[in-house]
Amino acid sequence: MTSSSLRSLFADLRLSLRLGSTARAAAPAVREAVQRVSHDDDRHTITHFSRLLSRHGHSHAALEWNSRESQERRFAALADVGLGAGDTLLDVGCGIGDLVAWLERAGLALDYTGVDLTPLMVETAQARFPDRAFLQGCLLNGVALPRPRFDWVVASGIFAHRRDRPDAYMRAMIEAMLAIADKGVAVNSLSLKAEYAHRWTLYHADPDTTLAWARERVPRAVLREDYDPNDFTLYLYKSEEAARGLRWAP
Ligand SMILES: C[S@@+](CC[C@H](N)C(=O)[O-])C[C@H]1O[C@@H](n2cnc3c(N)ncnc32)[C@H](O)[C@@H]1O
Repeated sequence: MTSSSLRSLFADLRLSLRLGSTARAAAPAVREAVQRVSHDDDRHTITHFSRLLSRHGHSHAALEWNSRESQERRFAALADVGLGAGDTLLDVGCGIGDLVAWLERAGLALDYTGVDLTPLMVETAQARFPDRAFLQGCLLNGVALPRPRFDWVVASGIFAHRRDRPDAYMRAMIEAMLAIADKGVAVNSLSLKAEYAHRWTLYHADPDTTLAWARERVPRAVLREDYDPNDFTLYLYKSEEAARGLRWAP
């Protein structure tokens, strides 16, 4: 996509956000996407990440990571849940599909599907990786996935911009991920234990209470806090057998 078409799509998005679901002048794909979003956080997410992508293009900065290395450290932690060759994988909040490239470099051949709330992210990911499936939408609002279930469902960086009951939102999203996962789920979040967490407007989840909640939901849940001082990853396994795939030890 050229920078001028990106600019015009973003202008359409701004227009449809201003006019709401009755916007007639907006591009049909954007109008449809905005009609389906459920509340202000979704709108904010779409606007925010569309703007970042327009500004930064194919860069870690478009996904709001400090560096490529910090993005990929999170990918490595997600993969340690037990991703194996031939597994089916759903990447929730896939951005521009950087996880696909990382998995290929790591030699992990998976049957990958990405889903993202932000239409521009999905278009960009699909243009980069035409052989992979990318869908626009959110699991909580119903998105037409190409298969009903996946071995693994993962998400990196999708909770930080939630302002409306973020704890409840995070748990609802994990529940939705668990509902379609056969083996398990891996998610990450900024941590309440991060230095200066209280000064940020971004949502920082409490790792310990999230782990306690997860342990009531699945046979095995594991908390990981060793790869970044500001972040944690939670592994949730649907069975003890699936948990044997874990490639990390405290
Ligand atoms: C910080 S970026 C990370 C992108 C990707 N996971 C990566 O690490 O490269 C967060 C992405 O999640 C998407 N997102 C946020 N909330 C979402 C939701 N509820 N469902 C799907 N995508 C979501 C945003 O549109 C954005 O593209």
